[in-house]
Amino acid sequence: MKYEELTKEISEKAYCPYSKFKVGSTVVMEDGRHFCGCNVENASYGATICAERNAIFQAIAAGCKIIKHIYIYTDGGFYPCGMCRQVIQEFADDSTKVTILNREGTKEVLNFNQLFPQGFKKEDLLK
Ligand code: THU
Repeated sequence: MKYEELTKEISEKAYCPYSKFKVGSTVVMEDGRHFCGCNVENASYGATICAERNAIFQAIAAGCKIIKHIYIYTDGGFYPCGMCRQVIQEFADDSTKVTILNREGTKEVLNFNQLFPQGFKKEDLLK
C-alpha cells in the first residue's frame, strides 16, 4: 500500500474521544523502513501524544536514525504542531520531506526546512 493510503488508514485508529480530531502519520526512515502512528489522547489532556511523535518514537525504538519523509493526514490537511516540528527536526536532515494529506489526497509536499526555519538544533547545544 502507498504511504499516502497507509497514513489515512492509520488516522482511523486515532484514540481521540475528547477532540474527535483524527491524525495519522507515517515516517519513512533512512533504511527504507516505515512506521505509522496516530494520536492517542488521555483524560489527563497533557498526556496526549500526537500522531507524528507516535510514529517517530517507534522508528527510533526500532533503531532508525533519520526521517527521510514524513506523511501527515488530517481530513482538513493541517500542518503539524510546534512540538512535533521540534521533534521532527531532531531526526531530520537537509533533504527531509513532508507530505500534507487531506480527504482529497496530497495537498502539499514541502521540504521540512520550509516548515520549520531557524529552529533550535542539537548542534546548537555544542556551540
Ligand atoms: N494532534 C496531532 O496528532 N498532531 C498535530 O500535529 C497536532 C495535533 C492531535 C493531538 C490531539 O489528539 C488532537 O490532535 C487535537 O489537538
